[in-house]
Formats: sequence, C-alpha cells, structure tokens
Amino acid sequence: MTRPEIIITAKGHAGTMATLQAEFACHNLFEAPERSSFFEKLAQRVRGVATFGPMTVDGKFMDQLPKLEIISNFGVGVDAINLGDAKKRKIIVTNTPDVLNDCVADTALALVLNTVRKLPQSEQYMRAGNWAARGPYPLTTSLGGKTLGILGLGRIGEAIAKRAAACGMKIRYHNRNRKEAPYPYDPDPATLAKNSDVLMIVTPASAETNRMVNAKVLDALGPQGYLVNIARGSVVDEPVLLRYLQEKRIAGAGLDVYADEPRVPPEFFTLDNAVLFPHVGSATVETRKAMGDLQIENLRRHFSGQPVLTRVV
Ligand code: 8YV
Repeated sequence: MTRPEIIITAKGHAGTMATLQAEFACHNLFEAPERSSFFEKLAQRVRGVATFGPMTVDGKFMDQLPKLEIISNFGVGVDAINLGDAKKRKIIVTNTPDVLNDCVADTALALVLNTVRKLPQSEQYMRAGNWAARGPYPLTTSLGGKTLGILGLGRIGEAIAKRAAACGMKIRYHNRNRKEAPYPYDPDPATLAKNSDVLMIVTPASAETNRMVNAKVLDALGPQGYLVNIARGSVVDEPVLLRYLQEKRIAGAGLDVYADEPRVPPEFFTLDNAVLFPHVGSATVETRKAMGDLQIENLRRHFSGQPVLTRVV
C-alpha cells in the first residue's frame, strides 16, 4: 500500500519525526529552500499536514493543497491554525489535549512558587557570593492563605487548582460561561484579578481573548498581585505588562509564553520581579512523546478510515 503523503511544517522531536517518516511519505516544509515551488510540486498529492509550533496554517496555506483532508497539530493550543478556514474547506483539525495536563500544571505551580517566593533570584544572590558577603536573602511572602484566580478553568486549570490547593491556596475562577466547579466564580477578568493574589492565565488564544489581560486587569491585580501566564502571550498586552513590572505596579510575573516566540523583548531580562521560562510547559520526554503519539494516531486513524481521537473541527 502506498503511504499517504503529508507535509511536516516544523521539526518535532526525534521520536515523533522518526515514526512520521516511517508511516507516511513526509515532505518537510522547514527544509524547503523555496515555499511556492514546494507547494506547487505537492499540490495534487498531499492529503495531510502534521504541524508543530507557531507557524500559521490559514486559508492561503490550505488553498495550496486542494487534496488536503486533515491537519494534525502537536499541542493542545490550535491558535496557529485558522479553524474557520479549515471548517469551510471541510478539513479535519486535531490537537493533543489531556496528555499534557499534568506537566503543564506542574510548570504553572513552579512559576507560582518561583515568582512569589523569588527562588531563582535567591539562587542568583547566592551564586554571586552575596549570602556570605551581605547576609540572608530578603524575606518574601507565603503561598498559604493566598488566592489563586484562574482565568480559564478547563482541564489544565483544574489540574493547577488541585496543586495550588495542596499548597494551601484558595481558588477562584473566571470562564466565559460559569461551570459546575467547587470554586467561587467572578463575572469578568478584572473582578477575578481584584479578588486574587495571583492571577493565572490558562485560557486559549483567540480573537476574543486577545490582550484580555490589559491595563484595567493589571490595575485590579494591583501592586501586591502577581501574574502567571502558561497559555499564550497574546492573551496579555505585553508592552503594558512590561511597563507595569518596570514601574512595580504589580508585584511580579511568572511567564512561560510570549507574544512573539522565541523573540522576547530584552527589557524583560533586566527585571528583578519576573521569572521567565522559555515555553517549557509540556517539555518533558514523556509528555512530548505522548503528544507526538496522539498527533500520529489521529493521522493513522484518518488514513485508515477510522474516526480521529481528538478532533477540534
Ligand atoms: C507546546 C503548547 O510547547 O500544547 C500547547 O498548546 O503550547 C505546548 O504544549 C507546543 O505545542 C510545542 O509546539
């Protein structure tokens, strides 16, 4: 049987790439010297796309592949794919939910702890020889009894809530629609920020959530409040956040995601009230393997006439 032809948009991790290469006839867009001839040559042959990372897959991309049936995304967030354009063209889109919940929630808790307790800063202080030379690192503040406001209480948000509760934090949330949850609900992001010590962004990127965390929300969070973002940089007004951190209008921020990754405004690197991770939320060998396996299983199922496992549209 001939293997279905697919395009791989960007380089994934080795195990996933090897399985894709073994099971499908793969064409690597990230190695193509020139895009238009790459698409022209493959137009009548390619039936699937395996996509990684932030590369835009929109109607223009899809129209270059008239035989395209499925776009299988590595990752739960599908903001790089235009879902409306895919739906119009009856192209299936899949993602990799659930398998990353625990890892992302671990990263979120790590950001809360590191940001509020300033643990990376205290380590730097020690490595610079300051402990012996200048005395103990200044006191920080405890998590116990503080309130974590979760903006976007889905499956990852629930996993974060459990971990934060184990640290003695109180939980509240805001979602577009109130849900059955054992936590108090706030009707909008600014009210949630006002009622929280730490505001945790988990909501996916969309036109609706673009820059949802703006000056009004950060003002509500206030000079004693912390912001943590493990969702997407676009959910925050990044220039405003930078200014608020510089002017100490919020107490601090823990960030795993940025507006234009991997380009992070260098001004962030000079802040002593920010803890910065390079988008490592799901970045473990086990979780990335599970994500890759699910991405591949969706392609495998589609091309053998079975329903995919995790369809978005
Ligand atoms: C990955 C993510 O870093 O699942 C997501 O939406 O942001 C992360 O788990 C990303 O998908 C890697 O391409």
